[in-house]
Amino acid sequence: MITVRGLARQFTLRGRTVDAVKGIDFDVAAGELVGFLGPNGAGKTTTLRMLTTLLRPTRGSGTVAGCDLLTDPQGVRRKIGYVAQGGSTWPESKVGEEIELQARLYGLSRAEARRRGALLAERLDLAGLEQRPAKTLSGGQRRRLDIVLGLVHEPQLVFLDEPTSGLDPQSRANLWDHVRRMRAEQGMTVFLTTHYLDEADALCDRILVTDDGKIVAEGTPDELKAGVAGDAITVDVADRAAEAAEVVRRLPGAHDVTVVAETVRLRVPRGDSVLPELLRALDSHRITMTSVKVNRPTLDDVFLSLTGRSLRDGEAASPAMEATHAA
Ligand SMILES: Nc1ncnc2c1ncn2[C@@H]1O[C@H](COP(=O)(O)OP(=O)(O)OP(=O)(O)O)[C@@H](O)[C@H]1O
Ligand SMILES: [Mg+2]
Repeated sequence: MITVRGLARQFTLRGRTVDAVKGIDFDVAAGELVGFLGPNGAGKTTTLRMLTTLLRPTRGSGTVAGCDLLTDPQGVRRKIGYVAQGGSTWPESKVGEEIELQARLYGLSRAEARRRGALLAERLDLAGLEQRPAKTLSGGQRRRLDIVLGLVHEPQLVFLDEPTSGLDPQSRANLWDHVRRMRAEQGMTVFLTTHYLDEADALCDRILVTDDGKIVAEGTPDELKAGVAGDAITVDVADRAAEAAEVVRRLPGAHDVTVVAETVRLRVPRGDSVLPELLRALDSHRITMTSVKVNRPTLDDVFLSLTGRSLRDGEAASPAMEATHAA
């Protein structure tokens, strides 16, 4: 559904050049739900604007929904939906009119435009607001209107740039449900950016991690989490913690073993499968364990280790990182 090779974009602003996207390659299969994640300024929006033909690449090539990005931008536009990061509604026009106009731009009949508009407005909780000028909507309502506008023509491929930023938890959950449903019912392909790692984790089949204009990792949420850090195991022992550390160090795949007071921490590729062996090993050395905990890494751990930055805005480090430092 999407194939991109060596896609790059450079901006020149007052004599200064910025390489916003530095030659990226990736593929998205039909029906896939792919998350494009990265810190602020990584080049996500720039990539989306190239894929939606709003911005010409400086270098590289690609096909989107079967149409060539460079030679058939019209074809691309007809087949996709796009919800921009900043939104794109006219402040003065009425919500219902805006939805209908958008649908008709894509060639739907008036009746069909109304039918789909009403259904989407209902699903994204905008019903009853059709007569209101867009400028009177709250931030979250306006964001939901942006999303309706991007989806009303039921495109086979949709690009969503931070669709849920500014939405309350209830509205986020509604949108997730809606995206999942459209994929199930229509086999729609979705390419989205988000700063919410729980969202990427819950929603995406696959994640592309980008930083500084390049793709730095790719995989399912589970693969990314397993590849980076492994599961963290925390064992509290009654005494002889140093000896316990030596015992667990010999477990298959164990690494990053640390001891603080009576607590031993380690990382292993799969915590649940190592646990029985760990218990037997400590037992055979007659070391008494008082508690044991297995934590799966979060996507935020993945980000920290890949980009050195937490994905969450304005946060220098995740709580996990601070805990490590404190220890
Ligand atoms: N029109 C432009 N002119 C000059 N520089 C630009 C322009 N658009 C984007 N940039 C720069 O390109 C880089 C990538 O920007 P982009 O908007 O793609 O990042 P992003 O990953 O979407 O970030 P965010 O998470 O904040 O939305 C940034 O350094 C940005 O300042
Ligand atoms: Mg952006």
